[in-house]
Amino acid sequence: MLQHPIRNRIWIGNEWSDAADGGTFATVNPATGETITEVSSAQAADIERAVAAARSAMTNDAWRNMNPHKRSRLLWKLADAIEAAADELAALETADNGKPYFESRKVDLPSVVENFRYFAGLADRIQGATIPVAGPFLNYTLREPVGVVGCITPWNFPLSLAAWKVAPALACGNAVILKPAEQTPLTALRLGELAAEVGFPAGVLNVVPGFGETAGAALVRHPGVDAIAFTGSTEVGRIVMREAAETLKKVSLELGGKSPNIVLADADVKAAVRGAATGIFYGKGEVCAAGSRVLVERPIYEEFVEAFADRAARTTVGDPMDESTRLGAIVTEEQLERVMGYVEAGKAEGARLVAGGERTTVNGKGNFLTATVFADVESKMKIAQEEIFGPVAAVLPVDDLEHAIATANDTVFGLAAGVWTRDIGKAHRVARELQAGTVWINTYNQYDSASPFGGYRQSGFGRDLGYEAALEKYTQVKSVWVAMDR
Ligand code: NAI
Ligand code: MG
Repeated sequence: MLQHPIRNRIWIGNEWSDAADGGTFATVNPATGETITEVSSAQAADIERAVAAARSAMTNDAWRNMNPHKRSRLLWKLADAIEAAADELAALETADNGKPYFESRKVDLPSVVENFRYFAGLADRIQGATIPVAGPFLNYTLREPVGVVGCITPWNFPLSLAAWKVAPALACGNAVILKPAEQTPLTALRLGELAAEVGFPAGVLNVVPGFGETAGAALVRHPGVDAIAFTGSTEVGRIVMREAAETLKKVSLELGGKSPNIVLADADVKAAVRGAATGIFYGKGEVCAAGSRVLVERPIYEEFVEAFADRAARTTVGDPMDESTRLGAIVTEEQLERVMGYVEAGKAEGARLVAGGERTTVNGKGNFLTATVFADVESKMKIAQEEIFGPVAAVLPVDDLEHAIATANDTVFGLAAGVWTRDIGKAHRVARELQAGTVWINTYNQYDSASPFGGYRQSGFGRDLGYEAALEKYTQVKSVWVAMDR
């Protein structure tokens, strides 16, 4: 299915180029261990070129003064081009990341297309206000682009998370330098090329594959970059914020989580088990909002654990390209080792392993882990506190609603949360009490281009999606005063 020649060089100014020093890195298919291709590894000198191209796009009439209706149509055309290339992009995503083709093709790609269409609708609706001020003055505001936006994205949803940033940034008239994760750079590169094919001027969208410590860090430090939109680990988020301080860039961070999924005793237990399973096994659990802590009220605790373990046992790994596969390959060998470290920690700290926990292969190859459930987890344990980023659920018993809320809030994170109950009063009360940027009631892992997504506490700040968040992140406001009495 990967017919299109795979794009593996640096995309700057609507042209392919090699890294200044000619360096490359391998991107590997985690389901087979095979190298898909060698990709150019952008260095500081390449970031320099990308910034020059993006800055020139911001001063060039073709982009700076593009009629907003035309900007909107370009985004819509890009959505169409992505839709037309969806089979190819989904196959590329699955090869690079190891996620089931079912997820890439049926969930990620349609949502990316919808995301570009949603933000196409924003492009010609960005406006300021006239403000009643004291004195003989006309005061009005202009909402202008921030300028050059550096987007740094992770490997778990390579194209989707790129779209979450690139689509609103372009809608707001910025120029973008996208630095995809070194583990999964391929779909982002193709996105850059598609944008040129539909008519985005040179320099508007540049894609610079490379490592975080080189390409990413150079982007964050560069004085010609006005804002950084980052999704990734909390640890690197801290570095990005610190480094960006030097040039006082506008920073938004979408970081890790340890999201609680609360199951109250009056819940529809079957639905809750299903929701808990998709909450942690969807995307191999390599999901920032994964429902990695399942808090279950005692009256239904044993029943729930048994049904959840049973469901996990039936969530089997398979070849990601097989359309029936629902649990794919862990993104890299290194990530699998990290996750296995947590499985060992769970056992060592005395949690009860009730499903999975085994490294495995498919057709004798690849980095796979069986769907894993630990029961009798205590909130202080490592597997209840740290982001694992793998298909590993920690189930904790809770005594009552108060205990559930206290336990749910007992981490440094605050990205998302779920609650399962038939009591609407309790549901809304829990939604208010949880420290989380998203709360799902009787569902989990729902996203929409129109609904803002982002963190409380150490899960970061700034929101992706939704038009208000986009305006906040990718525009700046200028106040203009006009004297009317002279
Ligand atoms: P990471 O945070 O290192 O990578 C995310 C992005 O940041 C990548 O594009 C990377 O190249 C870039 N980056 C890394 N260091 C940088 C630096 N000094 N300056 C600028 N950019 C830099 O994530 P990693 O190491 O791949 O994954 C480790 C753990 O992080 C995972 O196990 C998971 O717990 C968490 N994580 C969370 C994500 C989320 O969506 N919230 C996404 C990816 C990882
Ligand atoms: Mg890293």
